[in-house]
Amino acid sequence: MNSNEIRERFLSYFESQGHSRVASSSLIPVGDPTLLLTNAGMVQFKPYFSGEATPPNRRLTSSQKSFRTVDIDEVGDATHLTMFEMLGNFSFGDYFKDGAMEFAVDCLESAMGLPRENFSATVHEGDDEAYDLWQKHGIPTERIYRFGDADNWWGPPIHGDEGPCGPCAELHYDFGDARPGCGLDDCGPNCENVNPDTGLVCQRYVELWNLVFMQFYRNPDGSLPPLPQTGIDTGMGFERLVVVLQDAEDIYGTDLFLPLIRKVEAIAGHDSEESAEVRQAMRVVAEHGRSSAFLIADGVVPSNDGRGYVLRRLVRRAIRHARRLGMDEPFLGDIADAVTDIMGDAYPELRNNRDFVQTVIKLEKNDSVGLSRTATRC
Ligand code: SER
Repeated sequence: MNSNEIRERFLSYFESQGHSRVASSSLIPVGDPTLLLTNAGMVQFKPYFSGEATPPNRRLTSSQKSFRTVDIDEVGDATHLTMFEMLGNFSFGDYFKDGAMEFAVDCLESAMGLPRENFSATVHEGDDEAYDLWQKHGIPTERIYRFGDADNWWGPPIHGDEGPCGPCAELHYDFGDARPGCGLDDCGPNCENVNPDTGLVCQRYVELWNLVFMQFYRNPDGSLPPLPQTGIDTGMGFERLVVVLQDAEDIYGTDLFLPLIRKVEAIAGHDSEESAEVRQAMRVVAEHGRSSAFLIADGVVPSNDGRGYVLRRLVRRAIRHARRLGMDEPFLGDIADAVTDIMGDAYPELRNNRDFVQTVIKLEKNDSVGLSRTATRC
């Protein structure tokens, strides 16, 4: 399945379960001063969770453009992204834990064709109900793990000051022997063990889907009153799902990124497998080029503060890494065009604003010339 088919299959599955499909909102959050950039599928639905507005349907589904600034400096490894897509299904006073967990297992199994025996699950350490429900939906106890707030609580303490929040349960995909694991006895979801023989971090499990049981509203003063009604907010990392379904080595081996890497290789005249340094630089150029195209298509322009500064950092970091590859000619515009070819059907704003994206990239590139001349070549 190509990535467009996978996204469509997810949204169609939830439509067939009574959900209405909602378009991704802009990366610039609308009417939400608590956030710099949209960082999850639930952002556009906050007023529905808090009870301030009534949703068009008590069941919604979306594929949401999301951006997390915390990971900018990690980009270039095999897993971190700035802009990613979050697949989600949402309930506002309709189904709760039982329904959300049943949908998650069934969607992965029946719509995506993944074998249930490869799923492992987590719950918040105090959530016995969720623990029992995973069993009810076919996950055996030896594959259910309990974690504390750091892993299994979602909400504003981490992602903003104020808003709906609650405990979570997650589904992880277990690659078994197909990926290099740590081989240690305590291996499981969220494993960060280092394999004693290879020195590599365990890659056996990948977290696919986070199911948040929305029950509380965090106020800026720290109080946590219950929401007027319970809700479900789920988020599945689209790129990770594509890695699993396309059996790719990592995100850069999927059809979302491989054409971008090939484009960088063609412009740079290098092979991405030449060395670890070349591979890392190419990933940064491809990833930041993609994220920049999305930000600009949503109306972000480079500046020295706020979201404009995030964009400026991306463009300048991409230019710095491009110089390491010996790329001096304009290249971000080419990457943006390739992104539009891959994702323009799902996100028409990329096509509608193609010229604007090209103009902004050109102006920023000219502004930045000279800034990165000192970059060391790979
Ligand atoms: N809001 C949750 C997350 O971002 C689930 O969508 O993981």
